[in-house]
Amino acid sequence: MQDRSERENRTVAITPKILYYGTTVVLLTTLNEDETVNISPISSSWALGDHIVLGLGAGGKALENLQRHPECVINLPEAAQWKQVERLASLTGKNPVPTSKQDAGFKYVKDKFAYAGFTRTASVQVQPSRITECPIQIEARVKHIRIPGDAPHFAIVETLSAQVHVKSELVLGDHHINPASWNPLIYNFRHYFGLGEEQGKSFRSET
Ligand SMILES: Cc1cc2nc3c(=O)[nH]c(=O)nc-3n(C[C@H](O)[C@H](O)[C@H](O)COP(=O)(O)O)c2cc1C
Repeated sequence: MQDRSERENRTVAITPKILYYGTTVVLLTTLNEDETVNISPISSSWALGDHIVLGLGAGGKALENLQRHPECVINLPEAAQWKQVERLASLTGKNPVPTSKQDAGFKYVKDKFAYAGFTRTASVQVQPSRITECPIQIEARVKHIRIPGDAPHFAIVETLSAQVHVKSELVLGDHHINPASWNPLIYNFRHYFGLGEEQGKSFRSET
């Protein structure tokens, strides 16, 4: 018996190239210098209360746009939309394409909405538009951008939610999102997943 549990709990030390351990995909919309809107797929984000923190690569258009215009929309695609997300994966709104992205095969596309088959809906509190097809769209204002001195290739962007829009079929009662209906897209070590069966709920759940 003891042998079996020892075997099950055995670990090995490895050096993975990436640590994308399964987080929600966000399609971040930001305002370009000519007031058109860029879309950047990201998966580094977390929410606490009405604050949402984003992790953005320093060489991308999203960070450049947020430094100039501190507003964005955190659009959340559902699992079934992964192919549209992947259409955007090798693109940048940066022109010319930065050398680091050129090496990885990225290309510049200005209108990523058209390229991925998404449409725009005007936001209420911020200037960048929302992605109509994403079931959850969170308009947000940037409160702080920090570029760590020892890791200047990425930025920690703190945002504050200004308005949350949710497709009506996901809403339960007045202000809850039905977790049985919402199926976020999860980025799991560069593979896309949805959610499996519900396993249980927190003691704080109201639904
Ligand atoms: C599913 C997915 C998750 C990604 N996660 C992040 C991320 O968390 N932060 C980031 O800066 N880039 C992330 N990327 C890479 C950006 O999408 C990529 O750098 C892109 O060129 C950014 O577009 P932009 O330069 O127009 O902002 C991710 C890409 C994909 C497809």
